[in-house]
Amino acid sequence: MADATLLNQIKDFSNRADPYPLYARLRQTPVSRQNDVGQGTEALNDEARGVWVAASHDAILRLQNDPRISVETQPPTKRPSTGNPVTDYLVNPVKNRITDRHQPFLFRDPPAHDLLRAATVQQFTPARVQAMRARSERLVGEMLDRKLGSHEIDVVADLAYPLPVAVICELFGVPEGDEASFHDWSSQLATAVEPGVVVSEETRIENARIFDAISDYLTTLIAEKRRRPRDDLLSGLANHVTPHGYRMGDLDLISTAILILVAGHETAVNLISNAWLTLMRHPDELERLRADPGRVPRVVEEVMRYDPPVQLVSRKTLSAIDIAGTTIPEGEALVLMLAAGNRDPAAFTDPDRFNPDRSGTRHLGFGGGLHYCVGAPLGRFEAEAALTALARRLQGPRLIEDPPPYRRPATLRGPESLRVAVERIL
Ligand code: HEM
Repeated sequence: MADATLLNQIKDFSNRADPYPLYARLRQTPVSRQNDVGQGTEALNDEARGVWVAASHDAILRLQNDPRISVETQPPTKRPSTGNPVTDYLVNPVKNRITDRHQPFLFRDPPAHDLLRAATVQQFTPARVQAMRARSERLVGEMLDRKLGSHEIDVVADLAYPLPVAVICELFGVPEGDEASFHDWSSQLATAVEPGVVVSEETRIENARIFDAISDYLTTLIAEKRRRPRDDLLSGLANHVTPHGYRMGDLDLISTAILILVAGHETAVNLISNAWLTLMRHPDELERLRADPGRVPRVVEEVMRYDPPVQLVSRKTLSAIDIAGTTIPEGEALVLMLAAGNRDPAAFTDPDRFNPDRSGTRHLGFGGGLHYCVGAPLGRFEAEAALTALARRLQGPRLIEDPPPYRRPATLRGPESLRVAVERIL
């Protein structure tokens, strides 16, 4: 029997810097029922809630591909009360229902998921993604140029955070002056994907407000893309008609654009910063990368296993499932602990060792099954551009704080800041 408090210990912020020993304990029971008191969620009463957790590589793989698993886990949208009865009793309930019906496809099951995803994937053309690779390299160069002459760099604030949002804005064809708003929206909306499907009342209200703000902005931008299409992803999504005559409606277009923004931002920030932190802790690997930049794809792939930006994903069961000697009943909340599966000794030799030269079993860092990451190639390119430049240009780098301070979320886990002292920036 697994200790039923392990999930709460993992969610406890004091364990954010190193949850891996807890994952190892969790893995001893590949699928366990955990208490989930919904930490930091004053909206809930104290009653312990149950959530099932899959922690072994094998159990996660099976469940990811099981059609009895659903991603429709989001709680109903709740817009804040305004005190105006027309808004509170007529307008907002309708808006809430519309938002719920047009959830991003990450939170939708087939057939809606498949249609929206297929339309989106078509827009991630190899040419567009390759162009973003070159663009990422230029952006990284400019960001590091701004630090010339300095003896300290915060890899999160100076590079990892601004890079992905700049790439997404470019991908969407967002005017440069509007990028700052995208930063703020994205970091707030990331709170919507914390585990146990529970966020505080306050956070949900704030998320609904941000959702409206970004929806208003995107409505105008999409109208412009329909009127005057350019060669960008949003123009493509707005105007593409499938051979069967399907064209994405405005509401799904907005939720898809928001999904790409959120899914492609915080994740890439964490990938770059987790990767740099790992390299700083493995100076031999940093040296090898410096000597041979061609190693960078291996380094990125191993970070995706060793310290993945998305540590877990949430699901629910549509019917009872027998797995790993236990039965998960119908209608239960389920967490797939990707980061625990990535260190499973049954799947990886010497799993706690950072070893970019490993080959064989696939890691779970980009998810799997129907919801496998749409932006995986793009995310990899961004990280490769960042790491290659950091390795080449930072002379004598030294971590100022180890472990660095972490951001709150347990799901999209990564440092808040990553301060590095340098002799010189080339
Ligand atoms: C760089 C690091 C990235 C990581 C670690 C990552 C990780 C993931 C994971 C684990 C999932 C599956 C979630 C689940 O099963 O519930 C996912 C889905 C997704 N990702 Fe990524 N991602 C990254 C970058 C990106 C980028 C750059 C984009 C787009 C610009 C993107 C777009 C998406 C989308 C649209 C989905 C939803 C797929 C679906 O539901 O069918 N991701 N990602």
